[in-house]
Amino acid sequence: MSEQIKGYSYGQVGQSPVSIADLELLKKTVLFTEEDEKYLHLAGDVLKDQTAQVLDLWYGFVGGNEHLVYYFTKNGQPNMDYLTAVRARFGQWIMDLCNRSYDQNWLNYQHEIALRHHSLKKNRTDGVEAVPIIHYRYMVAFIYPITATIKGFLANKGHSTETVEAMYAAWFKAVTITVILWTYPYINQNEF
Ligand code: HEM
Repeated sequence: MSEQIKGYSYGQVGQSPVSIADLELLKKTVLFTEEDEKYLHLAGDVLKDQTAQVLDLWYGFVGGNEHLVYYFTKNGQPNMDYLTAVRARFGQWIMDLCNRSYDQNWLNYQHEIALRHHSLKKNRTDGVEAVPIIHYRYMVAFIYPITATIKGFLANKGHSTETVEAMYAAWFKAVTITVILWTYPYINQNEF
């Protein structure tokens, strides 16, 4: 149950500075349509019993790269409790990205996650003392691995190549919108 995930506070966070109208224009800009919504829901079905494997792959990638695991460390030592706590919320995020409607609550939680990557709120949710900010460049860079690695999982349930491609495109657009929203705190005022 999502309510029991430590630190997951969907529906209980402050207001996003980005408006629904701005979100709609972002969707339009990445060519995100109702068709994509439909395929994202399908992706949610396809991924729901594979999230542990997806997370194993992503955590393997982070764990295998010193410059990435760095963000979970204090004095060079990875904080395993921190990695584990974030992993549970990460799993929930996969489902939220696919299944939630992108309304005010969704927008608000994107801003909360933005703050949690930024020095404004990193480490606070889990009460840890790790490095204070995830650098902007890696936020954007992650769009590729988080997208490219999902395709194999989308193809695991016997859908046609066309359907897999449609789910994949929808996922790519959704991740792009998400990461744009997560970079808000890194951008000068009035420049977002
Ligand atoms: C937190 C996903 C980029 C490290 C999270 C959470 C999610 C997530 C879902 C938990 C949110 C919550 O609290 O509910 C992503 C995605 C990224 C991205 C989709 C880009 C496409 C990065 C990068 C790093 C990173 C580049 C660097 C290794 C972390 C850390 C936390 C976190 C350390 C915990 C932040 C805290 O202290 O609350 N991420 N992330 N993330 N992510 Fe990311």
